[in-house]
Amino acid sequence: MLSRKVPLAAIGEDRAVLPTFAARGMTEPVPRYELPDRPMDGDVAYLAIHHELALDGNPLLNLATFVTTWMDEHADRLMAESVNKNAIDWDEYPQTVELQDRCVNMLSRLYHAEEHHSTVGTATVGSSEAIHLAGLAMKVRWRNAARDAGRTPGTPNLVMGANVQVVWEKFARYFDVEPRYVPMTEDRFVIGVDEAMARVDENTIGVVGILGSTYTGEYEPIAELDAALDSVCTERGIDVPIHVDAASGGFVAPFLQPELAWDFRLPRVRSINVSGHKYGLVYPGIGWILWREEEDLPEELVFKVDYLGGSHATFGLNFSRGASQIVAQYYNFLRLGREGYREIMAALAETAGWLRRRLADTGHFTVIGGDDLPVVCLRLAGEEPFDVFDLSETLRTRGWVVPAYRMAPDAEHVAVLRIVVREGLSRDMAEELATDVDRAVERLRRGPHASLDGGSPAGSAIGRRAGRARSSRGAKPAPTAGGKTRSPC
Ligand SMILES: Cc1ncc(COP(=O)(O)O)c(C=O)c1O
Repeated sequence: MLSRKVPLAAIGEDRAVLPTFAARGMTEPVPRYELPDRPMDGDVAYLAIHHELALDGNPLLNLATFVTTWMDEHADRLMAESVNKNAIDWDEYPQTVELQDRCVNMLSRLYHAEEHHSTVGTATVGSSEAIHLAGLAMKVRWRNAARDAGRTPGTPNLVMGANVQVVWEKFARYFDVEPRYVPMTEDRFVIGVDEAMARVDENTIGVVGILGSTYTGEYEPIAELDAALDSVCTERGIDVPIHVDAASGGFVAPFLQPELAWDFRLPRVRSINVSGHKYGLVYPGIGWILWREEEDLPEELVFKVDYLGGSHATFGLNFSRGASQIVAQYYNFLRLGREGYREIMAALAETAGWLRRRLADTGHFTVIGGDDLPVVCLRLAGEEPFDVFDLSETLRTRGWVVPAYRMAPDAEHVAVLRIVVREGLSRDMAEELATDVDRAVERLRRGPHASLDGGSPAGSAIGRRAGRARSSRGAKPAPTAGGKTRSPC
């Protein structure tokens, strides 16, 4: 989120955060956008901030995010104990480095790196940093291969579905790579294999396969991409690697779909990213990037740093970052093991399956995107006097955050609601959610001033809030600068 400097002259009274009760300790206005002149009592400052943050949504009801909102108390304790450690201080905190090494090893084996593979990888701030690193490695590898073949490289391009998460657009723009998007269709919301191959040429640095589309939760056909790229290699002499964006699916597929070959079992898969803070079940922000073999990560991208004591190899966009997420990831690996992750993912899939059936049975919705991830993606089944954006807003009045958005180009006319089932959404809560969806549909059918519980429209707080929300919502999500509409994640 980019924050802007606000001109003080324009905001008048809003210059100050006015006293609330804050343990009756706040007696004077506190400047909002200027550093206060004087210190404040710690208890008062704490309470003022604590109460202000009550205006945020409730993380447990935030069904928009894939990111972890609950960890157990042992994890909380370990994170608190390591919150003052910088993960980059290798010499000072060698045991944290050891935990990262163990995590990279465990993940490489989870993703079927063979013992003879010289797999390398690192923790990152999230999948976004991991994806920038993966993209850079693909770009430099492609450039080096062109040089070795005596070819003058043209403009590098990257082939991917139009359903990629915004980070891939960022990578292309920040690092001067031409994005070649495969458009969606009325009934295909993931990459089309033939369409992807038609976009591949000698300047293609890689093809992206998504294991768990942000839009629908669907897995892309990565084995088919692998086979099709083999044919491209045989027929056209172009050798293109695959990067798998397993931000969400990387901690789901190994446990729920273990037979599905999407990882290092496929020869063209040279790198994989996964978000530890999504179904890896760690608080934000942690991601992982793995390269199948050391040679998949060009050595000119790796920096040797010795001013922290010792000499260490680093490849990352950040230097300093917290160590506590790495510790928490390792805790989850020990605490849960394969069996624990499998049980949790199976429970989430069960809740997601129940919600899909329950909501589809109302006749109001059509489920799209299948059941690869524990994600429920719905479009309206028929003509209604409201749309999914209205529904999303109405659910908000009960605290549920269920985003509505349009599909990627060329399927923008399809608008959906998405519910991400995570640990913390019990079956009980899922039942409450389904009941609130029923009520919201009924309320919207009755018109904008009806209340959710069917009571007096004018007198009900929910009715008033819903009415305000409707009038203040403004336009539906607008296309981004590039003309693509974006899911909110
Ligand atoms: C498929 C996909 N890739 C990348 C990302 C970015 O991940 P992160 O939030 O870990 O940076 C997301 C986030 O939702 C995603 O769904």
